[in-house]
Amino acid sequence: MVSSGKARAHTNIALIKYWGKADEAYIIPMNNSLSVTLDRFYTETKVTFSEEYIRDVLVLNGQTVDDSEAAKIRRFMDVVRNIAGTSMYAYIESDNFVPTAAGLASSASAYAALAAACNEALNLKLTGKELSRLARRGSGSASRSIYGGFVEWEKGYDDATSYSFPIDADHWEDELAMIFVVINNKTKKVSSRAGMSHTRDTSRFYQYWLDHVDEDIASVKHAIKDKDFKYLGEVIEANGLRMHATNLGAQPPFTYMVEDSYLVMDIVHQCREAGYPCYFTMDAGPNVKILVEKKNQQAVIDALQKSFEDHQIIASDITRTNVEIIE
Ligand code: DP6
Repeated sequence: MVSSGKARAHTNIALIKYWGKADEAYIIPMNNSLSVTLDRFYTETKVTFSEEYIRDVLVLNGQTVDDSEAAKIRRFMDVVRNIAGTSMYAYIESDNFVPTAAGLASSASAYAALAAACNEALNLKLTGKELSRLARRGSGSASRSIYGGFVEWEKGYDDATSYSFPIDADHWEDELAMIFVVINNKTKKVSSRAGMSHTRDTSRFYQYWLDHVDEDIASVKHAIKDKDFKYLGEVIEANGLRMHATNLGAQPPFTYMVEDSYLVMDIVHQCREAGYPCYFTMDAGPNVKILVEKKNQQAVIDALQKSFEDHQIIASDITRTNVEIIE
């Protein structure tokens, strides 16, 4: 028996960050998080199960991979086999659609697409909530990539209660965009998984972070309801910086910010002063993402172009499309 399924999932960027796990094995987070799903960056994954296969094989952008990421995917496939009650291995072909060399491939879109492709191939008939729970087992942020638009991940307290759901924004997403500034990084990479674990375990500021996330989530939901961009921006910028501050409080401390990250933050401030509201956020790397209303997108790009090359500046709409089966 051979069965296959192919799915497309878009990546997401957290406006209120997930930073720290309560349970490492099941990927239960310490706090709720909230994201927007991006139109421009996505993953398409085809999975084929067969009794003939003797192990899981992963082909990423046309190349067979057999590294720590492949090991992670095999562990995820064990979760899938367990749910499906099958012992079949799989051949997984995955393509990331991100501008070349931008280094923006994301585990969020990867595991959301893989979860949906497995659901289709094995006819599991998982609901959106169950798909989000499954994607979460691969990478926490993937639980949010099941949905388009604004999405909240409810931390829950166990496997059954930790999943994401969409937030109705009355199509406000259509008026917003995110600009990525891709910054070349010469410093050693600290993965989000390692960074958040070290910070959760050692940061003097971590409890302060936890104590304020819920109010940030509530504020963002108010801003969405009122379509209040300035309020939304102020809350998300402060939340992102607070997450990065927890890393500075870790022992030993570390940071994802490099000189050019600060330069982008400066440009964002200048744009605001010039009457173009826009707000930045950063994740586990030096790149800076800027949330802006579409009507001001070009003005912000123009300002960035004075300091960065065209290929470093990538704008994306926010998509309201959920993970979908293709073919
Ligand atoms: C800073 O979802 O990549 O982007 O669950 O360990 O796979 P794992 O981590 P991951 O972490 C994302 C961290 C973040 C913030 C966010 O996306 O919420």
